[in-house]
Amino acid sequence: PPPQNVKQDPHAASSTQLPIGGDLGVLTTGTGGPVKSNQTSITAGYNGPVLLEDFHLIDKIAHFDRERIPERVVHAKGAGAHGYFEVTKDISHLTCAKFLNKVGKRTPMFARFSTVGGESGSADTARDPRGFALKFYTEEGNFDMVANNTPVFFVRDTLKFPDFIHTQKRDPRTHLKNPDMMWDFFSQVPESLHQVMILFSNRGTPDGFRHMHGFSSHTYKLIKEDGTMHYVKWHFRTNQGIKNLRASEAEKLGGSNPDYATQDLFEAIERGEYPSWTLYFQILTEEQALNYKHNVFDVTKVISKKDFPLHEVGRMVLNRNPENYFAEVEQAAFSPSHSVPGIGPSADRMLQGRLFSYPDTHRHRLGTNYLQLPINSPIVPVRNQQRDGAMVYGDNGGRRPNYEPNSLGGPYEKRSVRENSENSRAEGVIARHTYELTDKDFEQPRALFHLLDKDEQQDLIDNFAQNIALAQPVFQRNILKQFYRIDKELGSRVEQILRKTNPKL
Ligand code: HEM
Repeated sequence: PPPQNVKQDPHAASSTQLPIGGDLGVLTTGTGGPVKSNQTSITAGYNGPVLLEDFHLIDKIAHFDRERIPERVVHAKGAGAHGYFEVTKDISHLTCAKFLNKVGKRTPMFARFSTVGGESGSADTARDPRGFALKFYTEEGNFDMVANNTPVFFVRDTLKFPDFIHTQKRDPRTHLKNPDMMWDFFSQVPESLHQVMILFSNRGTPDGFRHMHGFSSHTYKLIKEDGTMHYVKWHFRTNQGIKNLRASEAEKLGGSNPDYATQDLFEAIERGEYPSWTLYFQILTEEQALNYKHNVFDVTKVISKKDFPLHEVGRMVLNRNPENYFAEVEQAAFSPSHSVPGIGPSADRMLQGRLFSYPDTHRHRLGTNYLQLPINSPIVPVRNQQRDGAMVYGDNGGRRPNYEPNSLGGPYEKRSVRENSENSRAEGVIARHTYELTDKDFEQPRALFHLLDKDEQQDLIDNFAQNIALAQPVFQRNILKQFYRIDKELGSRVEQILRKTNPKL
């Protein structure tokens, strides 16, 4: 089971320091036998060859050779912490999810924050969205909310996700990051511009993981026992206050301390400064959702808080660092499809694709039994007919039946469970129904530009110009056209800076 919350001594020495002294006993091989020497291999004579019979040597090197597993294809660099979620307002009229059914109820949880595009050793301060992945160990099994620090996303169909990500990763020829790819893509996929605006504002470089919000981004369903359904957006608002880095600070830190955010989170928790976030819902009835002024399943758009204000739900607190990074953080496997009765996916095309993508990648990255790893296993018993496969961690079901139905006492189905998909409606012609780009797609980026104060606007414009200047002129012109569609002032101010270095643009 995930470890329970442990109160830290705020006066203890920072535990990024190694504990000196103590007695950890005799060194052993992986089979538990005592090791005579960890310094010198067995050789045939002083200058003779090394012998295969040295199990300790072979096992040590062979294990070392296999230390790396595939890093996450996205969100490879991250940091995590344990904590709890506590319900603070009654929302039992919205969902039958048991972990949300009572004010004061606490559920243990684990969070992992990450950057998206960089490799596992890349800088924490890179201009990038931040992942905000949460695992709740509930009494009905695990519920994951795999969120970001931005309320929208770059594309609105799963089919576009790999293309988008390729523009953020490395050029297939040079293995370098290539601004051409990025600005080429964004200028041809203007639905991305809302998120691009957020990315190039100072929210694209948050000051560590504690000073940012988390958003489900997608619309989700909340369902009650009787089938009543509401649509909701989840907002985790930081209680530490929003703090962002300006581009120059982020770049400097990227060189001097690439692990800035990882260190900040770890040390804050060690000091007893437990970061917390308050969870709010924006709540819509089915009718309100379907009649809203834009498609609430389009993840490139927000739902206005004026139209649908935030309702408090609870609070999450992170109060314990992992004991072992690889076991707890690297092996953590989140998925929007890890859910509980009462919380279901909406028809958002991105979310639907994600339901498949995450468990698929976990089976590749961690193996078919990834759910048996301690960090991923629920606090409730797992009883099913799954057996065998690479790396079984537990008793593999012991002698219990591996088929169903059986006359051996189950485990049996519970027909009264309300499934999240039950009674959902779907109708219409099967086709590739396109979300056509319209002027509406430029409204929210425009509103965002005008929401920024003077300094923030200037930073946004400078950040744009600095990066776009690295792309070829044709891509500069193409993205400027899209900026003009958002707002004349935005377009002309970025253009003015670009023309300083390239008057012929
Ligand atoms: C990680 C796919 C959109 C948030 C990942 C991973 C994949 C993936 C394959 C790696 C998982 C792993 O190896 O553990 C996709 C696809 C998307 C999509 C196909 C669109 C169709 C989004 C969106 C959000 C998001 C819209 C946020 C609202 C995250 C987070 C992680 C992640 C937070 C890191 C999880 C962790 O900390 O382990 N995504 N993603 N993704 N994704 Fe997405």
